[in-house]
Amino acid sequence: MKKLLKLVAVLVCGLASAFGLLLLYMVTFYPDAGKPLSLDAAATPDRLARGKYIAESVAVCTSCHSDRDYTRWAGPVIPDTLGAGGRLWTTAHGVAGRVYAANITPSGLSAYSDGELAHAITTGVTRTGRAMSPLMPYLMYNAMCLSDLKALVAYLRAIKPLTRSTPASELDFPTNILVRMAPRPYTSPPCPDPDDELALGAYLTSIGACQACHTPRVAGIPDVTRGFAGGEEFTEAGGLVRAPNITPHRASGLGSWSRARFIRAFKAHGGATRAVRPGGPNTVMPWTAYAGMTERDLGAVWAYLRTVPPLDNPVERYGSAGVRE
Ligand code: HEC
Ligand code: HEC
Repeated sequence: MKKLLKLVAVLVCGLASAFGLLLLYMVTFYPDAGKPLSLDAAATPDRLARGKYIAESVAVCTSCHSDRDYTRWAGPVIPDTLGAGGRLWTTAHGVAGRVYAANITPSGLSAYSDGELAHAITTGVTRTGRAMSPLMPYLMYNAMCLSDLKALVAYLRAIKPLTRSTPASELDFPTNILVRMAPRPYTSPPCPDPDDELALGAYLTSIGACQACHTPRVAGIPDVTRGFAGGEEFTEAGGLVRAPNITPHRASGLGSWSRARFIRAFKAHGGATRAVRPGGPNTVMPWTAYAGMTERDLGAVWAYLRTVPPLDNPVERYGSAGVRE
């Protein structure tokens, strides 16, 4: 019996020190995301227009980094909070800690150089060297091509400065150490050939961060082996809402949808959205933001989503009531 206890004690100590060494290793060698680029993102009219399109309608930065009006369908962004940050994610949202969306107006980003800002967006490493929570979809923005990134940075520099200060994010142990493994270097990928619809669709789906909500997460990181299978739960729109399966699976995904229906679903939210009855179903899907995408770009997203593996994962969107707006 004593021998057994001793063996258990040795094993426990061994495991604890192995874990300790692993953490030490991570603190020493990660995040491993390379150095910020030296980047010139001077504002030109073309860059500002493209940057606005990326920030507000494709990468939907402003949907997470602004307040949203959830008294209306799909919570349109409240214009005078554009980029002010402050939204909080906690354990109630499956986050181990408290993570605040930062102020990304010029007042919030004044300490950043253009290169450091591009680095933070695409690798997830802030200018102080901290690895961010992958809730900020930097793993998907890693695909952003250089000219779009310059346009985005130029645009962020040009929005109205708002002085809201947001508390620092804090992840619990050991997530605060493990998160250092998430960032990866940015390789300045080329922009997709606009005539190659599938390549364009893959690109827009990535930087559009569709996976941030439609792909199930394991320890906060999207599980790419179940890409677009849905099931993640959200509560910030009022009641509970789950992201549906948007793979081409016939029964539980978008198998029976047509391209026209897909584009219509987005475009239907183009203007002001209707008021939601208090307690009624609402959604976190930033329809009103994506509605700004061109039909051509939405068509490319559709074409790409037809090519992802169909996964059978039925998702009940609204609790047991199953209400569909
Ligand atoms: C799904 C929500 C979401 C979206 C979409 C999003 N962000 Fe974030 N962002 C966050 C969160 C949450 C944080 C804080 C992460 C942390 O502190 O660990 C953050 C942090 C940041 C920071 C770090 C600032 C700092 O030094 O603390 C920058 C810069 C940033 N985001 C820019 C952007 C840009 C640009 C886009 C669009 C390309 C974007 N974000 C889209 C949620 C989001
Ligand atoms: C912030 C989280 C979030 C993001 C980002 C997001 N979605 Fe959604 N999406 C949802 C939720 C939740 C629903 C279910 C409620 C609703 O219909 O709005 C939904 C619904 C949908 C539907 C309707 C499916 C059906 O069966 O009715 C489609 C299509 C869709 N999303 C496609 C996309 C695409 C494409 C992207 C990227 C361009 C994307 N979503 C980005 C959360 C998100």
